[in-house]
Amino acid sequence: MATTVGRVKGPNEDVESSLTNDDPALVDAFPEELPSWHGYIEWQNYPERRKKAHDILAAYKDKFTPIPEFQLKPLPETNPILVGHRWKEYHAVLGPTLKDIPAESWALVQKEKAADMVHVLDFPYNGEPPRDKLMQGKITPNKYHFVRNHGGIPTIDKAAFKLNIGGLVNKPQTLTLADLQDPNKFEPVEVTVTLQCSGTRRIEQIHEYPGDGDELINAPWGEGAIGTARYRGVSLKKVLKYCGGMKDNARHIEFLGADTYFKKLEVYNYAVSVPRRKVEAVDEVLLAWEMNGEPLPAIHGAPLRMVVTGFIGARSCKWVYQINVLDEPSHGPVQRKEYLYYGPQTGKQNVQFSNGFSIQEMPVSSAIMTPKDREVVVHQGEIEITGWAYSGGGRWIERVDVSADGGHIWYQCKPDDMTEKHYHAWRLWKITLPLHAEGWLELCVRAFDNACNTQPTFVRSTWNWDLHVTSSAHRIKIYSVNASHEDTARRLRELKENGDSLEPITRPLMFHIESDEHYNEIVKKHPREPEE
Ligand code: MTE
Repeated sequence: MATTVGRVKGPNEDVESSLTNDDPALVDAFPEELPSWHGYIEWQNYPERRKKAHDILAAYKDKFTPIPEFQLKPLPETNPILVGHRWKEYHAVLGPTLKDIPAESWALVQKEKAADMVHVLDFPYNGEPPRDKLMQGKITPNKYHFVRNHGGIPTIDKAAFKLNIGGLVNKPQTLTLADLQDPNKFEPVEVTVTLQCSGTRRIEQIHEYPGDGDELINAPWGEGAIGTARYRGVSLKKVLKYCGGMKDNARHIEFLGADTYFKKLEVYNYAVSVPRRKVEAVDEVLLAWEMNGEPLPAIHGAPLRMVVTGFIGARSCKWVYQINVLDEPSHGPVQRKEYLYYGPQTGKQNVQFSNGFSIQEMPVSSAIMTPKDREVVVHQGEIEITGWAYSGGGRWIERVDVSADGGHIWYQCKPDDMTEKHYHAWRLWKITLPLHAEGWLELCVRAFDNACNTQPTFVRSTWNWDLHVTSSAHRIKIYSVNASHEDTARRLRELKENGDSLEPITRPLMFHIESDEHYNEIVKKHPREPEE
């Protein structure tokens, strides 16, 4: 994750799966659904097709690479950190439409993301930016915005794109991108939105208490699975009005994405839903085609994605091609069986999907981005700390408190040292703290939103089996070296004169650290043992 420095950059040698399936019947069994759409197989509407895919996956079951176990060991020091062998194999055995998707998706990562992204998992692609890149400004540049994928990246020609809207609407419609972009039909809107994956800071839960080793790897995210962009699109509320409005019994609005989603040897299209009242709020759920003034990148859902403000990132469906108004939440496994928050005594021994609650609005969370965990900080009696703070549900951050002593004394960030307020976006903050103490210290941050919600104190208070929403106060350890202290300043000088360095602090000093004269003088004054 992004906290690790000096990671070895390894080549992604394993883009190709070692498994293949040359059955010629697969060409017809799982065809491309639409011309100029690549990598999209419609599963929802074809139960027979789904069954066939299941039978193939079941036949290969024992050949797939086992689900990796990484939570009980140190993470590999490579980039990509984890390699998604199993998911590549799933795609490889279902024939020509999906077989090359892993390699094509990786090529899109190279094209659309910055070279120094931290690739948490190579396929399905999950990546977060290096921490300094996230702190450059309120808006995260597209090439540094985190990516969370559950499958491959479909590529869809804008001109061939169409969106179906059906279910409990009075006039179901099929709209092209040009229809949605036509200002005579829909007034375009721009909204600044922070998307946060519920897995942000998961590594802290893993480090303390591992949890569900989900088949689709529960990525070991650091503090970078969050990003902010200005999205341009239209409000779903207005599009549903154009469809004659929702029927009285409408309760949830479902979004389907064109990527193929695998779960327990079954296939689906990515499907999630949000409550009706969310969609009815003004400009809170968008159909977006532009990100930070640029056409939406393929990796972020081009040509069209949902942007659900203030909710867990999972609801912001990418490559959306179908919207269904339903009288209950979506039956998709992402909605019903994942992104659930379980109680502290729920785990492999007793978990059931109905035990957890569905994560929708995000709570208050925050992170210290500089300095970084385990950094040696040489300072003159004060230290600058920077980070982000965010709250979902249309609430905004009002206060950010930072402590250099593990949370006994808190200092409040000044409003001038925080980026401006938004209903649906984070605030970056910085603070300069007086710091007298030396040695290992625990820095921590807690934020408050405008509803006075704040963060649980320790990771243990937030631990849950699926390792979601690590919203506890963020704590890091630094080694403080206060150069305004005379002894410390002298030692730093000695190190320099000897061509030596302070770091790593665990390496022994290779010069005499005290003259015999000085030692004798001091122990004479303060004898080591009592005289009598
Ligand atoms: N939409 C589809 N179709 N497929 C996906 O895998 N991932 C979701 C969401 N939308 C996903 C999706 C999750 S879990 C998150 S956190 C956000 O997309 C991430 O959006 P980003 O990759 O643009 O940052």
